[in-house]
Amino acid sequence: MPKKIILDVDPGHDDAIAILLAKGNPEIELAAITSVAGNQILSKTTYNTLRVATLVGATDIPIAAGAEFPLVRDQITDADSIAGSVHGESGLDGPVLPEPAMELDPRHAAQLIIDLVMAGEPGEYTLVPTGPLTNIALAMRLQPEIVTRVKEVVLMGGAYTQGNVTPAAEFNILADAEAAAAVFNADWQVTMVGLDLTHQAVATPEIRERIRAIDTDISRVVDEWLDFFGANYDSVWKMPYPPIHDACAVARVISADIVKAEKAFITVETAGKWTYGETVTDFLGAYGLPFNNLAATELDFDAFWDLIIDAIKTVSKS
Ligand code: RIB
Ligand code: CA
Repeated sequence: MPKKIILDVDPGHDDAIAILLAKGNPEIELAAITSVAGNQILSKTTYNTLRVATLVGATDIPIAAGAEFPLVRDQITDADSIAGSVHGESGLDGPVLPEPAMELDPRHAAQLIIDLVMAGEPGEYTLVPTGPLTNIALAMRLQPEIVTRVKEVVLMGGAYTQGNVTPAAEFNILADAEAAAAVFNADWQVTMVGLDLTHQAVATPEIRERIRAIDTDISRVVDEWLDFFGANYDSVWKMPYPPIHDACAVARVISADIVKAEKAFITVETAGKWTYGETVTDFLGAYGLPFNNLAATELDFDAFWDLIIDAIKTVSKS
């Protein structure tokens, strides 16, 4: 049985590839997509979500827009974040994409998540956030029962080694640390697919060649996304090949062998002057607190990229 997921995204080039993987992999049923402000302002991440959904043929599922601003902190803007330039002015610069083939669902993202989870069986849905966690925190506060009904939360965000916006904090967590703290501290199982894992998922020249060899409209779009994302990743973070962060969260739902994870105590720092937004991860039991969540540690690089390439081929045929 395919695993039913609700993707919560802020496209974002790697969010776009996560949507493509979710649509193109037979182990996943992409039940809905919700958008959140993050890589760009909400109107742009929502427009990008609709365009990518149209591109990959996800035109028969509900897509709802969510939070325009973080719960408490000021919004990170391009001006004060080195991450601002990575996705470009539109949030998804590069190839021309189709105009949306569908209307937005009129509900707020949080309400759509609640409605699907409450109407489904317990454990039917997995939440896969790949942007700031504002919508997820709003949904669990609006309807606390979803915490016990959701199968698990598998999110791209955080890191147990080093952040990418500050030394302590990764962008998705830093952008709304209070929302992230609520999500990590709730009683559901959270799997943190952080930078420690996603920096293993880099698009090397050999991988780029395999994608180009598919030679379809979709593969050409992905290739152009990687060109744009890669160029900025190199200039901003001095990484020669771009890491496809968000697709790793979908890959974890597909296979726990492709994205391995270890149990740990994980919470989010919201008061530290220098460490605000850090995902504090205790693998050793130093705090004597229960290992409430999981942290992704090891990627099967070849199997991961096989998933992506197979999904590009599948979506290309649809
Ligand atoms: O730090 C990486 C994360 O921030 C990814 O989700 C990327 O899309 C950006 O949102
Ligand atoms: Ca993202």
